[in-house]
Amino acid sequence: MAFMTITPGRPLRGTITVPGDKSITHRAIILTALAEGVGRIVRYCRGQDCLDTMRAMRSLGVKIEESPDELIVHGKGLWGLCEPSDIIDCGNSGTGIRLLTGLLAGQDFFSMLTGDVSIRRRPMGRIVKPLREMGATIAGRKGGELAPLAVTGTTLHAITYASPVASAQVKSSLLLAGLFAKGTTRITEPQLSRDHTERMFQFYQLPFTRQGLTLTLEGRPSVGWPAAPSMTVPGDLSAAAFFVVGATVIPGSDVTIQGVGVNPTRTGLLDILNRMGADIQLLNPREAGGEPIADIRVKSARLRGVTIEPDVIPQTIDEFPVLCVAAAVAEGRTTVSGAEELRFKESDRIATMANELRAMGADISETPDGLTINGRGGASEHGRLLGSRCRSHGDHRVAMSLAIGALTASTETVIEETECIETSFPEFHQTLLNLTSGNP
Ligand code: S3P
Repeated sequence: MAFMTITPGRPLRGTITVPGDKSITHRAIILTALAEGVGRIVRYCRGQDCLDTMRAMRSLGVKIEESPDELIVHGKGLWGLCEPSDIIDCGNSGTGIRLLTGLLAGQDFFSMLTGDVSIRRRPMGRIVKPLREMGATIAGRKGGELAPLAVTGTTLHAITYASPVASAQVKSSLLLAGLFAKGTTRITEPQLSRDHTERMFQFYQLPFTRQGLTLTLEGRPSVGWPAAPSMTVPGDLSAAAFFVVGATVIPGSDVTIQGVGVNPTRTGLLDILNRMGADIQLLNPREAGGEPIADIRVKSARLRGVTIEPDVIPQTIDEFPVLCVAAAVAEGRTTVSGAEELRFKESDRIATMANELRAMGADISETPDGLTINGRGGASEHGRLLGSRCRSHGDHRVAMSLAIGALTASTETVIEETECIETSFPEFHQTLLNLTSGNP
């Protein structure tokens, strides 16, 4: 079992980059594989989740050349995938298994998908139900609610679907299935979730439109899919988030993170931190791969608690673990509501963050759909947490958030089960050490 020891006491200073965006990398691998010709994916995320999706696409007959800086994907065309000879293992990735199930539902072959112990606990009914409405034949544990999933590919027909949950994974799974369906697929979501799939469809000039919260896609596009262009993946805001919070809460910090994706469907954390009193500047705004990017400069600041309403949850969803750390050292109370989706992530993030931060001295309590956090900022000079021994519960974002919390502690902290960090940000600890040593 891997563990990480965090010694507090130094500000974070310097200029860094973070890995390519994990969500965008999954999508880029899948869509480039469906294009005609050879495409390059530059600055892709080398986290295990994306490597698992790459392996899955290879098992479907796609040739992918891999170097540390870029992937070269030999597209097979829309109808060029072939039957995998073994079960597809999506590892820890909810995005991987849900998007691939949508992709595979409309093929003319059989496939099976599974993942690690966490994936086999996560809800799959949210994609299986609408895919079955499209005519998909999918079997799985608990009537298809849980993986492993067995997909007997078939001819799909388009549906009009109102998703009960604002989920980019559901939306993207159905968009991928809709590409292979006969007719016009319409998907409405209750709130706008991250829109990377839509942006990438546009990047590939696929016949698709958006009106409000409704997407409309013509299935089986007859226009030739343009040769795959080169795509540069923006830096992952969800990886940058740890250093944004770290630099904010550790006095004397000044960090610049270069080339980070600032798609508005992802930047809830920055908006909330600004409301809490953070000092965050977006510099040098530009575009990469159809996505807005910028350099993010963060200086330390004293934070105050805020009320976080349900309307900002989708664009902040992956950043709640580290936001809990910010709230725990802020002055005053932070409340989060309407965030029950956090209970269905790599771990139940409401329970894991409440338990682990409580062990570090935070005043934090769970509600069914959120958290109440009384920050320590008012109680002591720096709002410090207590050094402790804590664990990630196998959740990469929990592990990295606890590391940031540990930087504010009075003494050393040991975080257990940190191997999960490999799923999204293998260089996390080294990047943190570089920043605290002032030597990035
Ligand atoms: C993701 C969507 C979100 C997010 C996950 C990545 C994606 O999940 O939490 O980490 O890449 O589409 P949901 O779609 O379940 O909200």
